[in-house]
Amino acid sequence: MKKVVIDPITRIEGHLRAEVVVDEAGLVHEAYVSGQLFRGIEIILQGRDPRDAGLLAGRICGVCTNSHFRGAVTCVEDAYKIEIPKNAEIIRDLMTMALFIQDHVVHFYHLHLLDFVDVTSALSADVKATSKEAHKYAVRPFRNSHTHYEAVLERLSNFVKAGKLGPFANGYWGHNAYKLTPEQNLILISHYLEALKFQTNISKAIAIFGGKTPHPQSFVVGGVTSVADMLNPQRLNDYLFIIKEAKDFIDRAYLPDMKLLVDAYKEEMQAGVGRANGNFLSVGGYAFDKETHLFDGGVVFNHDFANIEAFDGSKVSEEIDRAWYKKVGDTEEVCYTDLNEDGSLKTEKNDDKYSWIKAPRYGGKTMECGPLARVLVSYSQNNRLIRSFVDEFLQACDIKLIDLSSTVGRNAARAIESSYICEYIFKLVSNLIQNIKYYDTDTWARYRFEELPKETKGGAFLEVPRGVLSHFVNIKEQKIANYSVIAPTTWNASPKGLDGLRGAYEEALVGIKIEDTSKPLEVLRVLHSFDPCLACAVHVLDTKGKELGRYKIKTL
Ligand code: NI
Repeated sequence: MKKVVIDPITRIEGHLRAEVVVDEAGLVHEAYVSGQLFRGIEIILQGRDPRDAGLLAGRICGVCTNSHFRGAVTCVEDAYKIEIPKNAEIIRDLMTMALFIQDHVVHFYHLHLLDFVDVTSALSADVKATSKEAHKYAVRPFRNSHTHYEAVLERLSNFVKAGKLGPFANGYWGHNAYKLTPEQNLILISHYLEALKFQTNISKAIAIFGGKTPHPQSFVVGGVTSVADMLNPQRLNDYLFIIKEAKDFIDRAYLPDMKLLVDAYKEEMQAGVGRANGNFLSVGGYAFDKETHLFDGGVVFNHDFANIEAFDGSKVSEEIDRAWYKKVGDTEEVCYTDLNEDGSLKTEKNDDKYSWIKAPRYGGKTMECGPLARVLVSYSQNNRLIRSFVDEFLQACDIKLIDLSSTVGRNAARAIESSYICEYIFKLVSNLIQNIKYYDTDTWARYRFEELPKETKGGAFLEVPRGVLSHFVNIKEQKIANYSVIAPTTWNASPKGLDGLRGAYEEALVGIKIEDTSKPLEVLRVLHSFDPCLACAVHVLDTKGKELGRYKIKTL
């Protein structure tokens, strides 16, 4: 047995460290996933005006700014029992939905794709065969001309001739786990470059109602401030135009690319590579009429989709036994224990602390949340909107629902969700136009802050791109006395507790096989499939602490 340490697997949102215990054959027997960066925004929020919670909480993350902004504002509204007007809800949804598709596309193409695509192999692709290959997965493939692929190849070979691969440097090129043909690699690289433009455009869509993005400004406790934008047909039209373009990319590039990937990795999906423990959590939400929600809420244990429990927020708890905190009276204090002398995490004893991430539990169980959980739970709850999208994908790929519970399946769920969300956005905009047409232009629930309760508590659970987000606030003397956040990554990257249960990341790592421990591509695939927001630099240690190699993976 030896320990393979990958630290930090860093992207934008903090430092993630993974230690896996592997046998001689490279099989992973145990995993420890550790959040290495203390956030502390909750402490900064103490003593502040509750109306400022949104702008401060938005700073928790540079990627999920919008999600925490909305989570905090919604949680304060819950504390004050403020109901916001329908239009405010729609405007918030239009921004959140655009963020969903932005996050999913950026995640797949720019944060995860190179775990599956060998850039150097694409250089030997034949452009005519590439164009033909793309037609296997799409009726009208996105930018599929020979001249386009020739231009992509020229850009790539210019990188190589200059002696540097630019954003594609430092990959594990040539690794045996890369299965795609040169032509398939070229299709995906072409879409990688196209997705950069997608990212720019969709940011504009969010900024139309948010003022800017990241860190939009337009949510306030009681509603939204983007009234002039909502009433300006040109602004609505601009937004719709961007979403139509986004849908075009999603349906003609993103979804077909996912079918291509599923085709290549079908056996791994069917074998459940990267599968966690089968416990899924979705809180649902985003209603667009009385009966229909974008996502259904529900809780699944052990892949038992026939017996879904209703979500009950009171069953959520957070353990700190193996996280770097200790209980002192009613509060939690930071209690950091250093690494072992050899640089590894202290994990030998059952109560050793090894992460800044706390351990959320639902009814005492560790759960997976995120797009996969939403898709599986909503599908199994007979969500009539999402079912047709899932069925079409499963049939086209000739796979079963359970096969989605895997590394590649997590990505497939994101692509399915993106296509589905675009449809929903068009319905939302038409609801908004309908309201305005009948002179319902309210965007703010009127209240006087001085008349609101001085002491109150509130909470909000909402689905955001990476999964279930919850914010809780305790208000005393009109000031925030205590604040608490459970982010999607907190659920998925949960450390063990005294119960010994593994979080979703750890569970998904156990059982995978690493072909070459100096190039742990398989570990990266599993962790990246959860979309944990990390910029990566990897080094590997053996059990004696000797450094075997140091690897940097650059992502955009
Ligand atoms: Ni984030």
